[in-house]
Amino acid sequence: SIPVIAIDGPSASGKGTVAQLVAEQLGFHYLDSGAIYRLTALAAKNKGVSWADESAVASVAQYLDVVFEGARIILAGSDVTEAIRSEEIGSGASKIAALPQVRLALLARQQAFSMQPGLVADGRDMASVVFPSAVLKVFLTASASARAERRYKQLIGRGETADLAVITADLEARDARDRERIVAPLAQAQDALLLDTTELDIQSAVRQVLTWWRQ
Ligand code: CDP
Repeated sequence: SIPVIAIDGPSASGKGTVAQLVAEQLGFHYLDSGAIYRLTALAAKNKGVSWADESAVASVAQYLDVVFEGARIILAGSDVTEAIRSEEIGSGASKIAALPQVRLALLARQQAFSMQPGLVADGRDMASVVFPSAVLKVFLTASASARAERRYKQLIGRGETADLAVITADLEARDARDRERIVAPLAQAQDALLLDTTELDIQSAVRQVLTWWRQ
């Protein structure tokens, strides 16, 4: 069987960066499941499909024409690597992620990333739904203010304008949607190890995951 490391956690916890570095260290594949939700939100927008129309968005999800070319993401022939990272698409992703039919339509697509020699997958329901038999499950979190600050720096670093108060409010709204949705709500899986990175830098977080992996 193929070894999977599942890393779940809230917005801007740093799980994407940690998961990517762990995958690099181990020579494993990497799944950014949030990107799949972002791609679905962008594809729906491009097609004029409302983010509230569950069956229409589920159909967009099912037929998503996406190619991962190394670090670049190609949607229906266009490079959308940067476009899916905008706050608008992040917010759309958070909305369509609450729709059960959409999550179901994206399930097999995510599971297909599990290939030899192994996979590191990050998201909200990697441990609970997508890869329940993952060998290592990590719940990676940080305080709301630490996460808001990280997201703020990320946006500023990309040359976007950002307002810390707006970002904090938006993170809180997303956290609430993630935790309160009916299907696959964000929660620490019973068999997941807790990694709080409020006072931990990326390298230390990566080291901790690798230590758990080797145990
Ligand atoms: O870090 P941020 O929440 O901005 O973005 P992300 O991790 O790229 O995920 C985008 C959205 O997809 C999140 O708001 C989640 O609600 C949703 N998502 C999900 O529901 N399940 C996953 N496995 C991954 C992301």
